[in-house]
Amino acid sequence: MKKKEKNYDKKTEKEIEKIIKKLTLDEKISMIHGATLFKSGAVDRLGIPGLATSDGPMGVRAEFMDDRWIPCGNQDDMVSYLPSNSALASSWNTDLAYAMGHVLGEEARGRGKDVILAPGINIKRDPRCGRNFEYMSEDPKLTAALAVPFIKGVQENDVAACVKHFAVNGQETDRLMVDEEIDDRTLYEVYLPAFKAAVQEGNAYSIMGAYNKINGTHCCENKRLLDLILRMEWGFDGTVISDWGGVHKTIEAARCSMDLEMSVFPDFEEYNLAKPLKEAVSKGEVSEDMVDAKVRNLLRMMFRLKMIGKHKDGRKAGTYNTVAHRQAVLHTARESMVLLKNENHILPLDAKKIKKLVVIGANAAKLHADGGGSAEIKALYEICPLAGLKMYLGGNTQVQYVKGYHVPEKSKTFEQNWQAFSLDDLKDTNVGQIVRTEDGDESGTLRKKEEERLARIEQDKAEIHEKNQQLFVQAVEAAKDADAVIFVGGLNHDIDSEGFDRTDMKLPYEQDALIEELLKVRKDLIVTFVGGSPVEMPWRHKAKAILWSYYAGMETGNAFAEIIFGEVNPSGKLAETFPAKYEDCATGMNGQFGKWGRIRLAEGLYYGYRHFDRQHIAPAFCFGHGLSYTDFEYNALTLKAEKDRAVKVTFTVKNTGKRAGAEIAQVYIAPIASKVDRPDKELKTFSKTELAPGRSKKVSLILKKEDFAYFDEHLHDFIADAGDYEILVGASCDDIRLRGIVTLA
Ligand code: BGC
Repeated sequence: MKKKEKNYDKKTEKEIEKIIKKLTLDEKISMIHGATLFKSGAVDRLGIPGLATSDGPMGVRAEFMDDRWIPCGNQDDMVSYLPSNSALASSWNTDLAYAMGHVLGEEARGRGKDVILAPGINIKRDPRCGRNFEYMSEDPKLTAALAVPFIKGVQENDVAACVKHFAVNGQETDRLMVDEEIDDRTLYEVYLPAFKAAVQEGNAYSIMGAYNKINGTHCCENKRLLDLILRMEWGFDGTVISDWGGVHKTIEAARCSMDLEMSVFPDFEEYNLAKPLKEAVSKGEVSEDMVDAKVRNLLRMMFRLKMIGKHKDGRKAGTYNTVAHRQAVLHTARESMVLLKNENHILPLDAKKIKKLVVIGANAAKLHADGGGSAEIKALYEICPLAGLKMYLGGNTQVQYVKGYHVPEKSKTFEQNWQAFSLDDLKDTNVGQIVRTEDGDESGTLRKKEEERLARIEQDKAEIHEKNQQLFVQAVEAAKDADAVIFVGGLNHDIDSEGFDRTDMKLPYEQDALIEELLKVRKDLIVTFVGGSPVEMPWRHKAKAILWSYYAGMETGNAFAEIIFGEVNPSGKLAETFPAKYEDCATGMNGQFGKWGRIRLAEGLYYGYRHFDRQHIAPAFCFGHGLSYTDFEYNALTLKAEKDRAVKVTFTVKNTGKRAGAEIAQVYIAPIASKVDRPDKELKTFSKTELAPGRSKKVSLILKKEDFAYFDEHLHDFIADAGDYEILVGASCDDIRLRGIVTLA
């Protein structure tokens, strides 16, 4: 594989060398590990500040104490709560990805941060991964297409994006120790492309090494991943930051491209890249050059961020909670919601005809910002669906809300996110130490905690069942007497969370049973969800309308109401497959998910829609699916050979309905008679086109040579075989509207 040349600014590099000469070993070491929970060490003598980092993907996290996982309780650290990456990805809108990156970067800088620990771009391999809500898609192309503008949006504010979690971080179970066994072809074709694009096209200044191991070695100590792939093959010259507690061994981390060790412990001098590193240098086990290399990468980023150097005074100041930010968040929320089903055009509802609306379900009135783990946000405000509906309808419409199903209170233990969990409240249980054992969870404490969590879920079931008896009756009674009934259910961050995975793909709190009951009395029930990952919908053939919203940020309720009443025409499409049942997924079949110790990615390339295609299994809702209140027609496909084995794909999209709307057209490549086994089809590019009723537009997209390629393990490079390829243009993965064949020379 061709090595990527680094593109250094020579003057800056000289400046960096001058600074390195002035630094003592102690000063250098102080710069490359945490000096507080979110900040690296400063060298005041030379005017080098510490690096201020903050989570996370859905907004800038609240301020924490320097040495304890306790929020400071400030009144000035509320921020804009952005749609989760899963929501953003469902918009398939690269302009919005850029806009959300811009808001996040501007708010991070406004809060005085240098690095924002986002975006999370891991590939969704299994629908049960607890952090899927933080990630974009199951598809590498779609993830890359959105990550690149997002990063650019962040970084134009003189704040670094820290793209995470590099790499193959696909489950939360045993997340600190799990070993992901993967072959090179799968690694290069599925799990690396979005990171490569983030580095090479997005020009990300920093990247976060993941917790897990890949083929036996922790990512944060993984020479192959960090030195060979990231630095040499991709030419990355930014900073590698460890996930918090992701470094386990001093020498290994010192000898590879791990630049900054962060962790969850307050004993900062004991970090691997602190005192132990100094000892290793003095014993000659690690050379000072290796320390210099890390400092160099950090300083280069500081120059880029204008934290130091002659452009320092020109550094952007940022701001937070602006009206413009809220509007951008609202716009994204509108485009993120996915209309899964709409029989007989039951939606949108006509607000004028509704005198009484009944809203059922705990998620109608639930706020989600403050949950999920490190992605939690102290939102300036959050409008829930119920508030959105009421604000939209105003005082002349009667809106009756009934909870419908019972959600148990979280126990004190589960209220803490994993980070707090591993420290203050549980110091005496030794959980903190677990992270430090080399061979994993020797004392079994984490496993025990997980068992307790599962037992608690079981206990909760009895409580839920008991309380639901009455709630169901109330809901069914209320549903009988209304002009329209909207159910708002789904998940929440007790379930979609960092630190653990879901045990199944079912709706919690007996929601399926309630929906079945409601459908008996209301054939016209509008079923809607807020959630971060797919759920089974066994009743889906009976429901006429189903609307899905991911955690869509502070303006969720407004966007929700606008879509329900047709003020906004939905235009989101699924960025991941919604299987009919968990057992249908690749990982559901091979059992290689959610285990402790070792996971084999046995399905290789065949996960998500690639698996459903290959196995001829119909999912409940396929990748790329999403309806509109209008209809679109696809016509006139032409394929034209361009320079350098590229192909220009041209077609027209026409809005044949009566409302304005936007259509996401997807272009897949299906190799014909390939030399090697390849997925039946793979997404390669897409476009989102807004169209007034009756109007049509010509869409032209380019397929590059690389889009036809697969990774050849023997040559260690991507190869595009000459021959025929079918080009499929569709409204979704399972709704292909146009087909053509190109022959690659
Ligand atoms: C998470 C990261 C996060 C970091 C700092 C870790 O537990 O995995 O995504 O950025 O903590 O809060």
